Amino acid sequence: MQRDEGKLRSYFANPPEDVSLDDIDLDRLPCHVSFIMDGNGRWAQARGLSRSKGHVAGVDSLREAVTTSVRLGIDVLSAYAFSTENWKRPKEEVDLLMHLFATTLVKELPLFYQENVRLRFFGDIESLPRKTYKVFERGLNETASNTGMTFALAVNYGSRAEIARAARLIAQDVKAGTLDTQDVDDTVFAKYLYTGGLPDPELLVRTSGELRLSNYLLWQLAYTEFYVTDMYWPDFSKWEYLRAIRAFQGRGRRFGGVVES
Ligand code: FPP
Repeated sequence: MQRDEGKLRSYFANPPEDVSLDDIDLDRLPCHVSFIMDGNGRWAQARGLSRSKGHVAGVDSLREAVTTSVRLGIDVLSAYAFSTENWKRPKEEVDLLMHLFATTLVKELPLFYQENVRLRFFGDIESLPRKTYKVFERGLNETASNTGMTFALAVNYGSRAEIARAARLIAQDVKAGTLDTQDVDDTVFAKYLYTGGLPDPELLVRTSGELRLSNYLLWQLAYTEFYVTDMYWPDFSKWEYLRAIRAFQGRGRRFGGVVES
């Protein structure tokens, strides 16, 4: 992925004491970074604010994560925005989130054009409220020819449902005679997932200290490095992003093999 060195340096000017762009090897960046954005509610509660204010603040962090990824030259950024289990939240909060997804997307479209970002969704977006779905569809159409970073938002997403859906689609193709049972291996299976055609995440970041996958990308995270920070999502900044990449680059990745010398 192309990056503008000048823009990159000025974006990371004035670093805090413990981390800077110089800590990062720009030739060994993860090609796909994924975020479980957690802690919006607790961030708000700690400030005596409503949970909605936490989600609104969370949008700012997500925008910063998009910009940081573009500046660094990350190929794919993905983020877990709403799970199939999140429908259990109070109706008021669900309505707020659906409204926020739609309004934010419309507002951020110019940023996506400007930065050549292509939008994608993981999850059953057709079952979302009509207005939200329509905006998502518009976002997909209007960014389809962008050739820079892919930004994928997981909305109404659950990994087990995704895997069951892939099995269903494969069964349909076998029945229709367009796919041979013998040809179904892990490479073919992966093409039927929402993430089909994208590289698996190399780095997964989860905020607010929880050590769970919460039904997120169970298949795709097989060899992914995890970085968990205690920070709540609205506090997540470009500097914490650098700390996550620095930790990633300090890991010895073996993919089930032996340590490279
Ligand atoms: C987790 O915090 C956050 C969510 C379930 C929603 C994530 C949504 C955003 C960050 C807004 C994104 C907006 C767009 C447009 C994509 P939580 O509510 O689970 O916090 P808690 O664990 O402290 O209760």
